[in-house]
Amino acid sequence: MGKIILTGDRPTGRLHLGHFVGSLGRRVELQNSGEFEKIFIMIADAQALTDNADNPEKVRQNIIEVALDYLSVGIDPAKSTIFIQSQVPELCELSFYYMNLVTVSRLQRNPTVKTEIQMRNFETSIPVGFFTYPISQAADITAFKATTVPVGEDQEPMIEQTREIVRKFNSVYGDTLVEPEILLPDNSACLRLPGTDGKAKMSKSLNNCIYLSDTAEDVRKRVMSMFTDPDHLRVDDPGKVEGNTVFTYLDAFCRPEHFAAYWPDYANLDEVKDHYRRGGLGDVKVKKFLNSILQEMLEPIRARRKEFEKEIPMVYDILKKGSEEARAVAAATLADVRRSMKIDYFEDAALIAEQAKRFRGE
Ligand code: TRP
Repeated sequence: MGKIILTGDRPTGRLHLGHFVGSLGRRVELQNSGEFEKIFIMIADAQALTDNADNPEKVRQNIIEVALDYLSVGIDPAKSTIFIQSQVPELCELSFYYMNLVTVSRLQRNPTVKTEIQMRNFETSIPVGFFTYPISQAADITAFKATTVPVGEDQEPMIEQTREIVRKFNSVYGDTLVEPEILLPDNSACLRLPGTDGKAKMSKSLNNCIYLSDTAEDVRKRVMSMFTDPDHLRVDDPGKVEGNTVFTYLDAFCRPEHFAAYWPDYANLDEVKDHYRRGGLGDVKVKKFLNSILQEMLEPIRARRKEFEKEIPMVYDILKKGSEEARAVAAATLADVRRSMKIDYFEDAALIAEQAKRFRGE
């Protein structure tokens, strides 16, 4: 069997640079590597509703934003199946069966769920759907028999929980499901890109994001107001590179060829860092360099987005076809699952014959 990818995003906003380094960019590379038999990219609207139940309009509006972001970074519907989670009801069915295999205390120990409960002030009233979303995420992954899940490191506990569910299912009902592996970003600077204010994560509510669809001017402003070293007051002062957001971004995005193109005074990033540490290199120059690199990367994405924005009905059609295709695959897995769980009553002619015999007293 070939390798299969499944991954996805909650449609709660446009996608940003954190998504790009954390997983989107990698997905495109993986898609084009030809190493994977199938690639499924899911817009996780049902999961988004687990903490936005009262705001379906937000989820609805962001489906198309996320789809446009996918297409504009180079996810190609001819190579990858893009689909909407809620349009594959088999995922709910599978989640329901998995719920029997997971304990409440195990869910309570899931570190991602723990932090998210705190972030959302859910401590005293956690919606059951939200609490159990790791189970539904296990269904997302296993319904496609995914071998490989490329995601950011914050998703590690989800994949671990999925693997446990697979092992439990297979040991109770017989070998049916595939145990997936997580595929983390390869550049350690990309594991978690901080927000432009230096806070741990890019997040819409913190207003510290650079969106893939931002204008060139928006991006420039964000870069020029980025958090650096608060003690680097004058150009001549020695500066710190660690914890300096501009340098964290350079670690993530700068490549050797950028020096010849935008900053020939230096041969590589180490030289820039040395100069900054010694003193005598101002933040503005480093920020301008970062801005050039980001603009070079984002410009073609923006241009492709503009093209797709002219074809919105076609984009919905891509999602519809993708969802139909995904549904067929998930339905095939569900047939295996029902057989393993012995709830395939009408598929099993032997069962009916056996029962008939039993009741005849034979
Ligand atoms: N939890 C993921 C996020 O918040 C989105 C997601 C839902 C997902 N189902 C998935 C990711 C399955 C990978 C695999 O970004």
